[in-house]
Amino acid sequence: MAFEYQESVLIKVRVARKTEAATDVCAFELASLDGHALPGFTAGAHIDVHLANGLIRQYSLCNDPSETHRYRIGVLREVQSRGGSVAMHALAEGDELLISEPRNHFALVDSAQRTLLLAGGIGITPLLAMARALSAQSASFELHYCVREPARAAFREEIETSALGANAHLYYDSAPIDARANLSAIVGVPESGRHLYVCGPAGFIEAVLSIARGLGWPETHLHKEYFAAATPPVSEGGAFRVKLASTGQIVEVGEHQSVIESLEAAGVIVPTSCEQGVCGTCLTRVLAGEPDHRDMYLTDEERAANDQFLPCCSRSKTSELVLDL
Ligand code: FES
Repeated sequence: MAFEYQESVLIKVRVARKTEAATDVCAFELASLDGHALPGFTAGAHIDVHLANGLIRQYSLCNDPSETHRYRIGVLREVQSRGGSVAMHALAEGDELLISEPRNHFALVDSAQRTLLLAGGIGITPLLAMARALSAQSASFELHYCVREPARAAFREEIETSALGANAHLYYDSAPIDARANLSAIVGVPESGRHLYVCGPAGFIEAVLSIARGLGWPETHLHKEYFAAATPPVSEGGAFRVKLASTGQIVEVGEHQSVIESLEAAGVIVPTSCEQGVCGTCLTRVLAGEPDHRDMYLTDEERAANDQFLPCCSRSKTSELVLDL
């Protein structure tokens, strides 16, 4: 018997505007087909974009969360694209797309008194929405944006010429060494009420987090969003089985198969997107057994609870996992 996850509501939109935001980065404005308002979102939210080639890709919304007439995303053409960014860059104004409603796994903490935003490259997109929201609330924040060279700094002009400019600092790897970002000085010592948000390439995120931890920042004040794993997690290991709680069906997971692949072969479809343990799309509840977590999505506390896992990359430490499927 095949059964599927409840599909989330999809919205049909059109590409209302496509512009070049920097070298290899296109900005897209997506609007509803009938001119009606789009569902609201909060800073840090992303949408799933369903592409014609069957791929689903997630992009953070970078516009002001108070806007309802458009969603704005920025897409870097990846050198080693698996097809998503190339398909996005091929879109033209007027093209229609299916997208999900916005979801937010990277939300601002309401109680923060000061906010430190650190962006590496295209990681600027969710942080730009956060900076706009914080600026609109006259909240205390700093935006630090590290990028290879000025031509690759997406949205640079609108950051520098808008109200965000007074709180924004841009750093270029191409600059003389003393003008480049000094991450330790930027992160600084922890203060109660100060929260740090970082987004960008995995190496950048790990560098920022390791500095912050070394300076004594508590985990509860560190917030991160990965775009891709630095090294995709190894989804191979010893064989085990998963049991579907709803029917009792047993599915064997071979040494060289992921749980997703084994489930698919048994006719059980779990939605996926990144297939690298980064996005959370395949998150599945675990009712019994102990997962072998290999993702970069769950927090340490969520991992320790062992009641959910990411079957695109994670495995099992026990011979059986009972899944809420
Ligand atoms: Fe992205 Fe599994 S598909 S975490």
